[in-house]
Amino acid sequence: MDTKTQVAIIGAGPSGLLLGQLLTNAGIDNIILERKSGDYVLSRIRAGVLEQGTADLLREAGVGERMDEEGIVHTGTDFSFQGEHHHLDLEKYSGGKQVVVYGQTEVTRDLMEARKKSGATTVYEADNVKLHDIESDSPYVTYYHNEETFRLDCDYIAGCDGYHGVSRKSIPKDKLVEYEKVYPFGWLGLLSDTPPVHDELIYCAHERGFALCSMRSKTRSRYYLQVPDTDTLDNWNEEKFWAELKRRIPKKMADKLVTGPALEMSIAPLRSYVCETMQYGKLFLLGDAAHIVPPTGAKGLNLAASDVETAFRLFVKIYKEDRTDLIPRYQEISVARAWKAVRFSWWMTMFLHRFESAGRFDFRVQQAEFDYFIHSEAGKATIAENYVGLPFEELE
Ligand code: APR
Ligand code: PHB
Repeated sequence: MDTKTQVAIIGAGPSGLLLGQLLTNAGIDNIILERKSGDYVLSRIRAGVLEQGTADLLREAGVGERMDEEGIVHTGTDFSFQGEHHHLDLEKYSGGKQVVVYGQTEVTRDLMEARKKSGATTVYEADNVKLHDIESDSPYVTYYHNEETFRLDCDYIAGCDGYHGVSRKSIPKDKLVEYEKVYPFGWLGLLSDTPPVHDELIYCAHERGFALCSMRSKTRSRYYLQVPDTDTLDNWNEEKFWAELKRRIPKKMADKLVTGPALEMSIAPLRSYVCETMQYGKLFLLGDAAHIVPPTGAKGLNLAASDVETAFRLFVKIYKEDRTDLIPRYQEISVARAWKAVRFSWWMTMFLHRFESAGRFDFRVQQAEFDYFIHSEAGKATIAENYVGLPFEELE
């Protein structure tokens, strides 16, 4: 069966759903094709710090209500080095900006609900999605669903299908400009229905390895430990996790840490990846399809949101003012922004993690760097302005 839409969106993660919502509100027709089921998409546990620009974009899309009720506004974030605890006033050092702690799973849930209400089409369990004629004026997508093959004709394709998706792979190999860095460790995460140990997040550098105290709500905590990239969940259990966390965080925090059963435990490898070919013919790449950052700076979802912001403004210009001349601006703006987030996430990773290969000298340098950044006004402003998010760039 054949259908037609203006923008075919591949992937119903936060990028695809947010772009779809904004386009639908603006009267631009779109259909989302998602490989998995809705429940599967919602079962993925991801980060939860929203920059002000991301929160504002969600509000603009009409999905900010529950975030504003249940999200926790953070005006600061904490750091510790070898157990020495420091507070960074993000609001003061960023010129009045804040972040909202609200889980990506909840963002996704709100977007799914809004899409259902809007009546726009999402095809879940769309198998074998293939992109065709993306260099031509009449691109189309084929997919398999309920034992039938479908063809979806469109003007543009938004590749929002994550790192492993089909969109980026549809660009000829010789046209792809890619950069990658793999870190020799991962993060072991644990989610539990226990009150967060502190009212701010705490990024902890320690000679035993990095640890992060985060949260999802006043009653749900999310903690992470740096683990060797060779570790699997077989190397860990809840008891061992809590004991190790207590060793790496400030003693005052360790003493009041409330432990409990794990709702989820998983290991994520740390990687930086950028595909600078973010537009090719009628195809645009957004979010994880174009770039991956290590979670240390909490930039993954925010970077996806900024791609969506730029792509959305562009589609409005194209459909309302016939401004196809602005198409190259998408890649210019998004690649430059991606690199800034990649740099910050890389720097936070190097700043806070323990590298097996580092010697006594490197450890001292790391200690001096921490001492400098946490006590210098310029240092604090540098961390704060990146953490709360750099401003969006205008199309023209
Ligand atoms: N066909 C259709 N859908 C696909 C395909 C495919 N071939 N491959 C992947 N998908 C779907 C995935 O099942 C997933 O639901 O695309 C979606 C991509 O979602 P995400 O991986 O969440 O990527 P994105 O929406 O860009 O979200 C940005 O921010 O915090 C980070 O990594 C985190 O997911 C997060 C990201
Ligand atoms: C999270 O809560 O999952 C989280 C928070 C901050 C980060 C990374 C992950 O930098």
